[in-house]
Parts: sequence; C-alpha cells; structure tokens
Amino acid sequence: MNLQATGTSILEWSGEGLAIGMFEDATALTGDLETLDGKLSGAIKDLIADADFKGKPATSASTRIAGSPIRKLMLVGLGKSDQMTLEGLRRAGAAAAKLAKRERCKMVGISLPIFNNDAAASAQAIAEGAELALYEDRRFKSEPDDTPPVEQIELLGLAGQDAAIEKAHKICSGVFLARELVAAPANYLTPVTMAETASAIASEFGLQAEILEKEDCEKLGMGAFLGVAQASDLPPKFIHLIYRPDGAARKKVAIIGKGLTFDSGGLNIKGAGSGIEMMKTDMGGAGATLGAAKAIAQLKPDVEVHFIVAATENMISGRAIHPGDILTASNGKTIEINNTDAEGRLTLADALVYAEKLEVDAIVDLATLTGACVVALGDSIAGLWSPSDDVANQLVSASEQAGEKIWRMPMEEKYFESMKSGIADMKNTGARAGGAISAAIFLKQFVKETPWAHLDVAGPVWADKENGYNGAGATGYGVRTLVNWVTS
Ligand code: BES
Ligand code: MN
Ligand code: ZN
Repeated sequence: MNLQATGTSILEWSGEGLAIGMFEDATALTGDLETLDGKLSGAIKDLIADADFKGKPATSASTRIAGSPIRKLMLVGLGKSDQMTLEGLRRAGAAAAKLAKRERCKMVGISLPIFNNDAAASAQAIAEGAELALYEDRRFKSEPDDTPPVEQIELLGLAGQDAAIEKAHKICSGVFLARELVAAPANYLTPVTMAETASAIASEFGLQAEILEKEDCEKLGMGAFLGVAQASDLPPKFIHLIYRPDGAARKKVAIIGKGLTFDSGGLNIKGAGSGIEMMKTDMGGAGATLGAAKAIAQLKPDVEVHFIVAATENMISGRAIHPGDILTASNGKTIEINNTDAEGRLTLADALVYAEKLEVDAIVDLATLTGACVVALGDSIAGLWSPSDDVANQLVSASEQAGEKIWRMPMEEKYFESMKSGIADMKNTGARAGGAISAAIFLKQFVKETPWAHLDVAGPVWADKENGYNGAGATGYGVRTLVNWVTS
C-alpha cells in the first residue's frame, strides 16, 4: 500500500473512494463540503439523512455515487470538535481505511482536519491509523484474502507532510514486527527463531547484534534466567541489539522485553481455564522491544539504545526447576522458587543486572508479567512502576502521544515482606493480593541506582476484539510508546 500527501482539494480530487471526516456538531455542510455536495447533486446531504449520520466517533456511512469519478463517498465520525485528539485522528484514519477496504476501493482519498495546527503530527497520526488498520497477518492461512487490497491512499490537505508519513511508516513496520512475533505460536517462534529475527533486523537496518549463548550466560552467572530455561529442549538465547547514532549520543538507554516464547507455568503448571493456550503471547515485551529496535534503527535518533531480551520457554521435564529450589542471579542474590510460574521476573532479574552494567542513563522493561495487572487495569491499560518520577512522567507523556494507555501504580516497598525467605535472600512470589506490585518490587531488587521503570503489559499486547486500528489478536502494544520515549 502506498500512502502519500496531496495538495489536491476535495473539490478536485478524483479516485475510487473519498472519505471525509465530520464533526458531531458540524454535519450541516459549509464551505468546500457544501460546494462538493452541490457538484455531487446533494449526495452528501442525502447520505447524512439516509444513514442518520451524526458524526459520532467510531461511526461511519458510505454510499455509491452514480455518474461521478468518485465511486464511493464515505463519511467518518470525529465526535465533538472541541474534544478532538491526536488519537481521535488516528482512529479516524483507521476507520476511513477499513471502510475503503470493505467498499473495495483500491485508490482512496482521506480528508480529515488538522489537530492543534500541527500538520506533521496530524499526518503521522492519520497515516499510522490507516496503516495499522489495514495490516493483516495471513502467514498461517493457506488461502489468500479474497477482498482486494487498498493500493493507494492520499491524505488531502496535508501537502508537504511526506516526512511525517514516512516516519509513521517506519514506526508501523516496528509495530507489525511486534504483532507478528506475538501472534506466532510457540512452535514457530522459539528462542532460536527470535534470536534469528533479531539478527536479521540488525543486519538489515545496521544495528550491532550480540546473541549470548547458554555458556556465555553461565559465565555471567545468570542463574535465574538459566533456571527458567533448564527444562526446555530448546537453547536459551540472550539477545542484545545496539543502536548507536552516527554523531554523539545525547543519552544512552536500555529497553528490556520479557521473552518467554511459551509459559507452561513449569511444575506449578497452568491448569485448565488458566489461559495456557494464550501463553505464546508471553514474549509481548520482547515483541515491543524488537519492534522498537526495527523502528528506531530506521528513524536514527541521536540516542544510543540497547535492546535486551532473555529469551526462553518455561517448560516441564526431568530437568525442570523444582518448587523450593534456590537460584542465584548474576548480582549474587539468591532466590527461593516458591512458584515456578513466576518465571518472567527471574529472566528479567538477570537482564536488569546486565543492562545496568552497560552504564545507561535509564532502563525500561516491558513484560507480560502478571495476571494480577490484568485484574487491576483490564486488558487495554499497562501498569507502570518506577521509583523515578522523571522516567515515569516521560513514559506517561510518550504513551499519551502514542495513544497507548498506561497507568502509574504504587511501588509499595512494604509488600516485599511477603517475599522474604527463611533460607534465601527472597522468594520469587509474595502474597496473592497486590501481585502486580510485589512483582515490580521483586524486579527492583536487581536495579541498584540506574533510573528504571517497569511496564506490565500482560493486558494490552493482545486484543480479543477488533478495536480502532487494532484488529483482533496481537496489537504490537508498546512500540509506539518506546519510540516516542527514545526520540523525545
Ligand atoms: N505470563 C504470566 C502472566 C500472564 C497472565 C500474562 C495472564 C498474560 C496473561 C506470568 O508468568 C505468570 O504466570 N504470573 C503469575 C504470577 C504468580 C504465580 C505470582 C500470575 O499472574 O498468575
Ligand atoms: Mn508464568
Ligand atoms: Zn510468564
């Protein structure tokens, strides 16, 4: 699909389908729209009346226009004009693109307003919405899609915004990689194939790649990560990609993603009704991390970024960790495993210690860490924990810009008490109540002084239903927030 900006006005534009955004309080036609309506013999007014179209957000209407070069006229609701947001524009771009596809338009024009006089941000948001909405993952289908694809989209009234559209395209390529990684089941995406994918994006986009093998991890004393990995027939892979800017780096950061390609729970196996069949998504943090790497390598900001994934599966076998085992992490801390299903934090413990040794200015980890976070915030909001108000605020504003929801949660140190162990330095799980908080407090034991934030993304990496620019399935959550955080 080719997406570009055009200076052609809605009066002159011709193509198969024209999508026009309309505010809730402005369905009475004025200006160019009124003129266009005249040219089309009142087709817009008729459509508004026939469909009882009121411009409400997430509503649309379309009609066929006889005897006009524009075959389909589509209206997209924008809600109230004084409540317009960038995310509203992103969703409007998505609605227009999806409608065009449904109406089998190959060549589409989209006319939407500019938010806050910011044509670049508006063009980027509309382009993101359209691209993200048209994405379809057919890798595991044997038959092709029978609906013809949208081939070309022109954004009307946004001439000169090609750089913003190009930026959106690079970011979306990262989101698609994250979606593909998360959607791929554990018999396709393994620690080995994830490392291969990481190496492939590194060589394609000029990143440095270091893949640490099990023996390398042993030398570094990563007993927590390797304990989780030890039951699998597949070798663990510790993935480290590095983006270095051409000139001087303004800051140096690390992004860590939980990379469990499958989480059976281990000997504390996940039972029926636990959602075990969804545990291919337990590398959602890794997906976002590698997706961000792909986008950032193309965007080339003046920031040095380290992308880290301790990839493995959590399996059962004669070699599995026994509940009660004591593991030693790479910072020397000992952990009594009272639940083998709390494995993500063990892999992250060694990844955090590794990241801190890189002497970065800040570390952010993303992890599908707890069901408790989904209970607390539902499936569309990630939990954010950070001892640093600075990093927390940066992430909140990066996520707002991206249209990815996060909510800051308390770092309640007192909850560490339930993780105290009589025999080791700590247990890996504490009380059931506040389980997402104690997981964050556990991670904190492995960060000494680097400003750090943890995002529990167990809810938003997957969507059961289509919504806006996300189809049902993997959302690619986190990539856009990470890109904004790094580039801001
Ligand atoms: N991967 C899961 C968390 C998860 C649950 C992600 C549901 C997505 C959807 C994690 O490894 C896990 O099993 N966590 C346990 C922790 C518990 C044993 C303290 C959980 O949330 O039940
Ligand atoms: Mn688990
Ligand atoms: Zn897990």
